[in-house]
Amino acid sequence: MSTIVSGFAGGAETAPASARQAAGPHALLECIGDTERVPVLDGGTRRYVNLDIAASAPALACVRDAVDQFLRWYSNVHRGVGYKSRLSSWAYETARDRVAKFVGADSDSSVVLFCRNATEALNRLAHRYPFRPGDVVLTTVMEHHSNELPWRRVAEVAHVGVTPEGRVDEADLDAKLARYAGRLKLLAVSGASNITGYVNPIHEWARKAHAAGAEIAVDAAQLAPHRPIELKQGSDPEHLDYVAFSAHKMYAPFGVGVLAGSRRVFSEGDPDIVGGGAVDLVSLESAYWTDLPDREEAGTPDIVGVVALARAIRALEDVGWDAIRRHEAELTALTLERLGAIPRVELYGDSDPSSAASRLGVVPFNVAGMPHALTAAVLSAEWGIGVRSGCFCAQPYIKTILGVSDSQARDVARAILARDRRAVPGAVRASFGISSTAEDVERLVEAVEAVVRGRFDGGYVLDAERGEYTHPGMAADFARRLTF
Ligand SMILES: Cc1ncc(COP(=O)(O)O)c(C=O)c1O
Repeated sequence: MSTIVSGFAGGAETAPASARQAAGPHALLECIGDTERVPVLDGGTRRYVNLDIAASAPALACVRDAVDQFLRWYSNVHRGVGYKSRLSSWAYETARDRVAKFVGADSDSSVVLFCRNATEALNRLAHRYPFRPGDVVLTTVMEHHSNELPWRRVAEVAHVGVTPEGRVDEADLDAKLARYAGRLKLLAVSGASNITGYVNPIHEWARKAHAAGAEIAVDAAQLAPHRPIELKQGSDPEHLDYVAFSAHKMYAPFGVGVLAGSRRVFSEGDPDIVGGGAVDLVSLESAYWTDLPDREEAGTPDIVGVVALARAIRALEDVGWDAIRRHEAELTALTLERLGAIPRVELYGDSDPSSAASRLGVVPFNVAGMPHALTAAVLSAEWGIGVRSGCFCAQPYIKTILGVSDSQARDVARAILARDRRAVPGAVRASFGISSTAEDVERLVEAVEAVVRGRFDGGYVLDAERGEYTHPGMAADFARRLTF
């Protein structure tokens, strides 16, 4: 089923690359592909404006260089006695130490485990955690699905509500901590939201969770690229028991995730994945698991990805968290101010530019009367801007923020199950990183103004099953661009 959308054709003049030096925040570090141009609907090209960094951050140039350098020496780790294997083992374990330092992990009580991404890290924790029947995991309505679905399989899950503005309801948190005390094993919360950019007071919540006799696991997928993380000593009531994050959101997109936290859980029981590298002794009848971290990392690890992550962490630390925070706050404030001044633009969450420093550079919005997916398609096809639209893998949260009623939600659910995604509620999300600039914001604002005025091409086609708009006039020259 396809629908043609009407509108007005609007020109998209080609901005010179030098416009990137416009007044306002400049890029803090160079990322690969920052100046890449993409085709747009008028037949020209424009520098790609990447405002989808919360989904995945482009690789830093220094990360690519570190990977290039390492690849000359690459070999499998552990047990290999060749020079390259010893060097690769050293690189892998040195990178682990750097990650441990990054999260403030103390090696006596904590362990850093590498896996594929934050989702796998949270699933692994869920599988390995020694839950008993009746145990409760308390999470929130704010969560990404990756920090909600894994818990359903292993424990009873309770949810802390959010306010209409999308903040975690502290009174409900307190009430639920009290209600489930005794049965509550884990408070599983996001360090920061991938939709509203709210940064949660995780250390305060750690204190509350510990006082209720529970531990705390933090989904730091969004937090880690933007703020320092500190597990703290186990004796500190504000310590974090577990954190999970992904390297691809930290400018090192080579397939690595991290689960860091208490050794206790992983020292007991059988590893989730078993095989080579995880054992000390194997007979045809028995197996003896080796020590951490190896016992939890069976098989050949992503050595290149781990080296890339370590380099990215060093780069972020060299720039400095204060500078990163300031840069992002300036871009966020500018975006909120400029988008907020456009009629028919609806901003979600805290839209006050003066509080930008207390949140991440993630701005959700809609143009009233315009499907979110169409706005995103126009931004891409006519303006060369990459944003994301939809529910951002946090459907219960987006439902609350958008004020979707239960009966609307039921209608949507029925339609989705019938493979019709034309009317799925959602928002457009612009998100920033260290290579974002004021000029990126200006392009977004200009583009959204054009959308609001109806100045966009009329030829977008809606794929009902996917809920996505495409324009038949857009080049899909991908096979010519890549030669792998
Ligand atoms: C808050 C949050 N948690 C978890 C994830 C999952 O991360 P990954 O896809 O790297 O596993 C994401 C990804 O967007 C996220 O934003």
